[in-house]
Amino acid sequence: MDRVIVVRNLWKHYGETAAVKGISFTVHAGEIFGFLGPNGAGKTTTINLLTGLARPDPVPAERPEESTELFVCGINLLKHPRAVQHLLGVVPDENNLYPELSGYENLCFWASLYGIRKKERQERARELLNTVNLTEVAREKFANYSRGLKRRLAIAAALVHRPGLLFLDEPTTGLDVAAARSVRRLITQLHQAGTTIFLTTHYLEEAERLCQRLAFIVSGRLGRIDTVSHLLEPVQGKQFLEVLCGPLPPHFQEVFSRVYPEVSLLVAGPGRFQVEVSPRLKVPALVQFLETEGVEVLEVKRKQASLEDVFVEITGIEAAAIKQEKAKGLP
Ligand SMILES: Nc1ncnc2c1ncn2[C@@H]1O[C@H](COP(=O)(O)OP(=O)(O)O)[C@@H](O)[C@H]1O
Ligand SMILES: [Mg+2]
Repeated sequence: MDRVIVVRNLWKHYGETAAVKGISFTVHAGEIFGFLGPNGAGKTTTINLLTGLARPDPVPAERPEESTELFVCGINLLKHPRAVQHLLGVVPDENNLYPELSGYENLCFWASLYGIRKKERQERARELLNTVNLTEVAREKFANYSRGLKRRLAIAAALVHRPGLLFLDEPTTGLDVAAARSVRRLITQLHQAGTTIFLTTHYLEEAERLCQRLAFIVSGRLGRIDTVSHLLEPVQGKQFLEVLCGPLPPHFQEVFSRVYPEVSLLVAGPGRFQVEVSPRLKVPALVQFLETEGVEVLEVKRKQASLEDVFVEITGIEAAAIKQEKAKGLP
C-alpha cells in the first residue's frame, strides 16, 4: 500500500471553535511526514482524528460539494473507527504510562492490552527496551525516569504490536538537548527500519532535519504540502538581512515597497523583519530610512534563508507564535 493515510476535507469543531478546517493530505508508505505548526494549530486534534480517538464532524452545510474521506492503512475510518488500532502506534504529547510500574512492567502490561501471550510479552518487552536503549533502567519505576527516558519508553510502548505506522505528537517538546537528540536518533532508526511516521512539531529545524515531506498547519488550515527540498528551493542560496527593531508603524510594508520596490520584505514579528539581500539595498541607507520612519534599529545581521522564511512566506502569518517557542531554542 503506497498511500498509508488519505485525508480529504476533514473537519472538527469544539463547540463554536473549528479546530480543523477542511484539511486534505496524503502520507506515503515509508516516509516521515511532518505536521508543522504553532501551539493550538490543530495538530493533536488531527492525530486524534487519524487514530480513531475522535470522530470528524460533517462538512459544514455551506460546502455541499465537498465530502470527507479518511483512510488509514487502507481502512475507512468513517465506517470503522476502531479497526485501525492494531495497525498503528501513538505516542501522545503527554505521558500515558503507569508511574508505579517499572519500564519493563509497563511494556508487558501494554503488550497484554494487545493480546500478546505472556512469554512473548516478556520477550517483546526486553527487545523493545533494547531498541530504545533503556535496558539498564528496565527495573526502575517509570515515575523515577527523566523526561527523556519517559518519552523513549512511551515510544517503545507504541511499538509493542509492531505497527507499520507511528504517530508522534511533539516527541521532543520539553526535553533537554541530549534527550531530544536521542529521541530524534530513535525516530531516524525507526524510519530506516521501514516504519511510516506522522510527526507533529513546532520546531522548524527539527522538521527540516527529520522529515521527507511537510505540511504547515495554522489555525486548523493547511498551507502548502511538499518535500523539504522543494519547499526550500525558492529560498535556496538566498541571503537575508534580519533587522531587529522597535515597533513598526502601521503602513510600514507599503512605505517600504515604495522606497524599495524590488526588494522583498518579510515581516515576521512586531520587532523584527527580514529583507532579501540585493545590490540595491545598502545597510547604512536602510538604517537611515528606518530611522526617518521612526523605527528604532537595534541590530542588522545577515543570514542564510531557512525553512522559517518559507513558513512565513507560505502561511503569511507573523511567526510570533513559532518564534516564541524558538526563543527557547531547539532542544
Ligand atoms: N477537548 C477540547 N475542547 C475544546 N477545545 C479544544 C479541545 N482540544 C483542542 N481544542 C482547541 O482546538 C484547537 C486546536 O488544538 P490542538 O489540536 O490541541 O492544537 P495543537 O496540538 O496544534 O497545539 C485549539 O484552539 C484548542 O484550544
Ligand atoms: Mg498538541
